[in-house]
Amino acid sequence: MSSTHPQRITGEPAGPAAPPSRFALPGIVRFYDCLTEASSFLDDVLRGLSAPQKVLPPKHFYDAQGSQLFEEICELPEYYPTRTEMAIMREHLPEIVQMLGPDMELIELGSGASVKTRLLIEQGRPALYVPIEIADSALRGASAKLAERFPWLHICAVRADFSRPLRMPSFTGVPVKLKVVYFPGSTIGNFTPEDAVALLHNVRGLAGTGGRLLIGVDLKKDRRTLESAYDDAAGVTARFNLNLLARINRELGGDFQLKRFRHKAFYDERLGRVEMHLESVYSQFVHVAGQRFDFKPGETIHTENSCKYTVPEFQALARRAGFEPQQVWTDARNLFSVHLMIAV
Ligand code: AVI
Repeated sequence: MSSTHPQRITGEPAGPAAPPSRFALPGIVRFYDCLTEASSFLDDVLRGLSAPQKVLPPKHFYDAQGSQLFEEICELPEYYPTRTEMAIMREHLPEIVQMLGPDMELIELGSGASVKTRLLIEQGRPALYVPIEIADSALRGASAKLAERFPWLHICAVRADFSRPLRMPSFTGVPVKLKVVYFPGSTIGNFTPEDAVALLHNVRGLAGTGGRLLIGVDLKKDRRTLESAYDDAAGVTARFNLNLLARINRELGGDFQLKRFRHKAFYDERLGRVEMHLESVYSQFVHVAGQRFDFKPGETIHTENSCKYTVPEFQALARRAGFEPQQVWTDARNLFSVHLMIAV
């Protein structure tokens, strides 16, 4: 069921300007469930497994287990994006916060318990924080942690699929000067360039004219660095990928034998993207919700694209969605970029 009314309130509101204290009660979190029926996991799986090139949308990676495995990925030595983006944010935060100014509504796409979000909240002191996330466990967990840490913060947590056009509930009572959409982690790379333009167009609607977009974007680089980031030695990314099949078994009555599939990740230089697949090792068939799907040996399910850009390529893409670049920060090795853009 979808609702634009707040559903549950945790904690007690502390005074809006109360300084964080060891004894303060956790802040208030209002939850809004805006997930529509059209976002069904079952429909996506049945449709995706019926396609000539089998495909599953990467947004379904993130159940509780998948979200946990993704956190482990972010700590891997091979997975450079998280720590590089973090270092860029740490280094340039004073300048970023100064460019954003006071009393912003900070809208974050994806769950926001990360250190990057905490820093931005700590130093930017937003009037209102609006995390938007499809995964219920990640949204609730992240919001609760932030409410605990920042008792003064107003949090309106929205469960929604931000890859679809989104009608936001109105959050009255908190005066804001500027809307800032924060989209870290290069999640934009998980959309094809065409879909990324459409998504940023929606984001532009969320920010409103004059609003800002602060977005992390992974950069093009050598194949070896990219491929090992998506196929780590400890096999965590493989487990993350295979968890999608385990999730289908758990939630949709599937009978995938995980040992009969293998994780595959490669960089397609022509398309400028890392692709992840699950490859069938044998000739086999599986069932999901009573439907049968056949696999030839070597046949794959395409589970993720992770598009990489140069700075000018990404700026051109964002312009197509109605944003004008204001500033861009990168690291010394040119691995990752953080862009500040204005909605025009
Ligand atoms: C969430 N997203 C930006 C990650 C990425 O790098 O594309 C997901 C991921 N897939 C494998 N490793 C990490």
